[in-house]
Amino acid sequence: MKEKTGLKRVLATIISVFTMLAVLLPAGCSSGTEGDTPALQESDDADDPVSQESAVLVAVFSCTGHTMPIAGYITDELGADLYVIEAEIPYTEEDIKYYTDCRADREQNNPEARPEIAGDLPDVSGYSTVFLGYPIWHGQAPKIIYTFLEGVDLSGKTVIPFCTSASSPLGTSAENLQALAPDAVWQEGRRFAIGTAAEEISEWIQSLNVQPE
Ligand SMILES: Cc1cc2nc3c(=O)[nH]c(=O)nc-3n(C[C@H](O)[C@H](O)[C@H](O)COP(=O)(O)O)c2cc1C
Repeated sequence: MKEKTGLKRVLATIISVFTMLAVLLPAGCSSGTEGDTPALQESDDADDPVSQESAVLVAVFSCTGHTMPIAGYITDELGADLYVIEAEIPYTEEDIKYYTDCRADREQNNPEARPEIAGDLPDVSGYSTVFLGYPIWHGQAPKIIYTFLEGVDLSGKTVIPFCTSASSPLGTSAENLQALAPDAVWQEGRRFAIGTAAEEISEWIQSLNVQPE
């Protein structure tokens, strides 16, 4: 009788240990995002087979929010991960009043300017394709994009630039970025008007034939 009670106790202990492990293990092991900066948002599409291990990263800097939706459409379309490039010293309204010798004007005119990025840069080793989004500032990519390109190793990766602007084309902005990551495989980029609809982005993505896996 005594033996039976002891056995019961051992069994109860084993069951409760397993129950505890079942509850605790998914929380500790599943996310894989420990150490990620909040700027990196992994795809959360549960139906997407590439979720959590997408081969596509969308990196974007958007100062006034126009380029951000484009990045969002690309991310959704491909189940990609999103990394938002944020300035260590955020741009104020005064900073981006262009043609007033504002901070942005001065940075764009200074070949040496490399505004610091807030937080950690993403680990790009697992990605094969990186979309790189930015607003056109004086015909070029903002200098913080230069900081980004000098801080990550995009060798061998396909890089696809995209931008928004008031009216300027992508122009020489992409060519000038290529010089900063010459070992990447640069695809032709595209400029989008402010407020471009998701359908247009989707058509563009389809035309690129990007393999998300
Ligand atoms: C400093 C600065 C310079 C700009 N230069 C240009 C330009 O040369 N050509 C243009 O069409 N738009 C120019 N713009 C407008 C932005 O490209 C446009 O508003 C863009 O969509 C902003 O994107 P964002 O909201 O993602 O930052 C400039 C804006 C700023 C702040």
